[in-house]
Amino acid sequence: MKPGGFADLHQHVLWGLDDGPGTAEQMHALLEQNAAEGICLVYATSHADPQRRPFDLTLYQERLEEARVYCEKKGLDLRILPGSEIRYRGSVPDRLAAGNLLPLGASRHVLIEFDPDVSLFEIQEAADSLYRAGYLPVLAHVERYRCLRHFPQKAMDLREEYGMLFQMNCDAITHLRNLMERRFVRRMLTAQAIDVIATDAHDAVRYPAQMREAYRTVAQLYGEDYAKHLTEFGWRLLRAEEGQQA
Ligand SMILES: [Fe+2]
Repeated sequence: MKPGGFADLHQHVLWGLDDGPGTAEQMHALLEQNAAEGICLVYATSHADPQRRPFDLTLYQERLEEARVYCEKKGLDLRILPGSEIRYRGSVPDRLAAGNLLPLGASRHVLIEFDPDVSLFEIQEAADSLYRAGYLPVLAHVERYRCLRHFPQKAMDLREEYGMLFQMNCDAITHLRNLMERRFVRRMLTAQAIDVIATDAHDAVRYPAQMREAYRTVAQLYGEDYAKHLTEFGWRLLRAEEGQQA
């Protein structure tokens, strides 16, 4: 997957901030794994749940810098951009506007997640609130929510009507967890109703940065163009930002 390599929109790559790498050494191993996997752009989306505890932006920036310095020192072809995976709460739009939570890079796109038992109505409400505040929601691991997984057509309607972008985890494509999820994954990919795939990696061992196998599977079953589309979303986002800044 060259030139540019894969872009991973969802990864817990920074250490000591969430349930991602627990030590600097584990983060280094994950960074090396990204480079070996052909991932050249990572959005460092640490968990943020404003209802549980404030997102520590100062520590986040320190760890981001630490990761960038390591890549430079080791000559890794890996660019790391800021972000967060935000557990959606009613206060999220205000917190984003106040700069207390991070969108994806310098864009207006925000990666949001919910409890697996969330209702369709709650997701619609969240999308509405974010739009009104000027943000574009990207739904993390869309395969995880029962209200969508059991009703793929409702998921597609949500994407169409609310313009919400859907992110699917790579391992949902490569590992069969249950038949309901597999059916959902196939249906959504066949309809090209997924916008981006991501590793959601947490460390190099437990939940690794693996994208190549998912890329190959999508290319084989749904076409090379769609596989590229799904693994290049982060680059398109970055180019759009750079175009705006120019
Ligand atoms: Fe995640």
